[in-house]
Formats: sequence, structure tokens, C-alpha cells
Amino acid sequence: MMIQSILVLLLIFIANVQSLSISDRANRKIEWNTLKLRWGPDPLVSNDEVYIRQPRTVQQALQEQYEQLPDTLEKQCIGETTIGYRYWKDNDTAAILIFDKQGTIAGIQIAFRRSSIKGNYYSFDTQKMFNVEMINGIEMYTLTAYFIDPTLICTVGRTLSQLEHEGTGTGLFLQNGTNPIKDSIEIPLWEKDIGKTKWVKGACFKTMGIHYWYDNRLDKSCSDFFPSFLMYNKGQLSGFGWAIVANLNFSRRIERVLTPVISTFLIPVPTCIPKVNDELGGFTTQHLYFNTDPANLEC
Ligand SMILES: *[C@@H]1O[C@H](CO)[C@@H](O)[C@H](O)[C@H]1NC(C)=O
Ligand SMILES: *[C@@H]1O[C@H](CO)[C@@H](O)[C@H](O)[C@H]1NC(C)=O
Ligand SMILES: *[C@@H]1O[C@H](CO)[C@@H](O)[C@H](O)[C@H]1NC(C)=O
Repeated sequence: MMIQSILVLLLIFIANVQSLSISDRANRKIEWNTLKLRWGPDPLVSNDEVYIRQPRTVQQALQEQYEQLPDTLEKQCIGETTIGYRYWKDNDTAAILIFDKQGTIAGIQIAFRRSSIKGNYYSFDTQKMFNVEMINGIEMYTLTAYFIDPTLICTVGRTLSQLEHEGTGTGLFLQNGTNPIKDSIEIPLWEKDIGKTKWVKGACFKTMGIHYWYDNRLDKSCSDFFPSFLMYNKGQLSGFGWAIVANLNFSRRIERVLTPVISTFLIPVPTCIPKVNDELGGFTTQHLYFNTDPANLEC
């Protein structure tokens, strides 16, 4: 009897040690309990305009009138430049959801018409973060992020129970090239680990958090400005976003940023930005949140 309970305790102890050593994910305090997109002034308001909640399973997506991408795009889990099963709503390419083998959320993509780009302000064809793909018969630029290790999306996936326990994702992987497995960059979950990278601290915006911008500096060229940013709160990654040097207005699920507000999240503002932004009539952004508890977005 005694020996049995000691054994049980020992097993519990070993299990705890293992789960802690798997990663510091176990320590995460800001739960990734949602996936919402598009900023609004009040994180408690969530509707079709702001903090738009996204379904996190295929089953839920279908209930909310999301559909699989058309053509042959979604016959296979491994696509030409993406991985996972993709769904959209009303053909809106502002938020194409990516699901894994088990129908659990595994990433997101934004896509816009190549023909909607005016002028030569930005090198869309050389910035590796952008891929080109025909979607619904239209040539599009895409930006893609995964929320679990891309190698697991089509091989293992995650169960509903894992989604509930681990949250919307176990990490953030930005696809920086044509190969989602080889080219995806894993983003540090903890702000303390970002010092080892080229991500530069920007400004903290209440309702968003501390923004980080890749390789940002005063003399950064506008033509290859990195099209994604990160948001940390309470020392943890709690969201991210897209920042595109183009004035796109194809969807109500994107945001337009004008020159006067740029310095509220970007520090320093590269010298080239105000002029380019004014000439374009604004840049396009989209904030994506894994948690929108106001207490977690306070700065
Ligand atoms: C979406 O695209 C399909 C073609 O794949 C087309 O038949 C349909 O009319 C489009 N729907 C909307 C809402 O634009
Ligand atoms: C993206 O890929 C390019 C080309 O491989 C590389 O030069 C660049 O450093 C990568 N960007 C990041 C953020 O790792
Ligand atoms: C985008 O802007 C153009 C010109 O400003 C306008 O004609 C068009 O209706 C807008 N499209 C959407 C979807 O808002």
C-alpha cells in the first residue's frame, strides 16, 4: 500500500518535471484562448467589424459559412506554397484560415490581388515573406503564419482536447519563402528571448501591446519593410499582425494606417515612411490577437 502510493507520487513527480521541461509553454500565463482580428478601440467589443472572432475548428468554420478554397487548391493538405486545409468566408482573402489534419486551427493567411499594387514603392517580388499564387482564378500575393510547427500540420495535427489545453497555437511561425517547412521562422514566445534576434522594440499601444518590428531603423528602406510585426504583453507573445506597404481596400477585415498615427506603434519611424504613406494614401495592416482580455492589453 505504502509502496504503491510512493510510486504514484513518484510518477506524478516525473510527469510534472517532464511537462515543465518540454518547454516554457507550460508557464504561459496569457492563454491563447481565441483568434480575433482587426483592431478596435474597445477589446470588449467583438463583432463583424472589430476583434472579429475566427472559428478554431473546421466544424465551427462550416457552421459559420466558411468554405474550402475552390479549384484544386484544397484537395491535398500539402499545397504549392502552403501547408494545411484552407477556408474562407464570402471569398474574402483578408483572412484565410488554415486547419490541420484533424480540423484544428493551424494558421492564417492574408492574400490580395497582384494587380491591386500601384507604383513601385515596395519590392513584393523579392521580399521572401510574400508568395504568389492563383486563388479563385486571380493572381495573388500571400502572407502566411502558422500556429503550430508546420511539420505537424499534415502529419499529426491536434485534437480538440489539445486545442482546449494548449490554446490557438503552440507557437508562431512566419512563412518566409516558398517552402512552409523549411522557410518558416519561429518567433520567440517570450519577450526576454527576443534580444537574440533582429526584432526591434517599437511602441506600446494600449489595446494592442508592445509592438516589435523586424530589423527596423531610421534608414530602413520602405521597399523591403518587413511585412509582419509582433505584439507582446506581460512579457509574452499575445498577437501579431501584417503591415503591407500598399493601400488596399478589398475587405472590411483589414485596417488602414495614416501617417499621423504611425509613431504610436513604430519607433523609430523610418525616414522614408511618411512620404510613401502619404503618396499611397495609407498603408494596410491587420492586427491578430490570441487573447483580448483588456487586462492583458494594457501596456
Ligand atoms: C466566390 O467564388 C466563386 C467561384 O469560385 C463564385 O462562384 C462565387 O460567386 C463567389 N462568391 C462571392 C460571394 O463572391
Ligand atoms: C527570410 O529569408 C531571406 C532569404 O532566405 C533571408 O535573407 C532573411 O533573413 C529571412 N528573414 C528572416 C526574418 O529571417
Ligand atoms: C476601394 O477604393 C476605391 C477608390 O478609392 C473605390 O472606388 C472602391 O469602391 C473601394 N473598394 C472597397 C471594397 O472599399
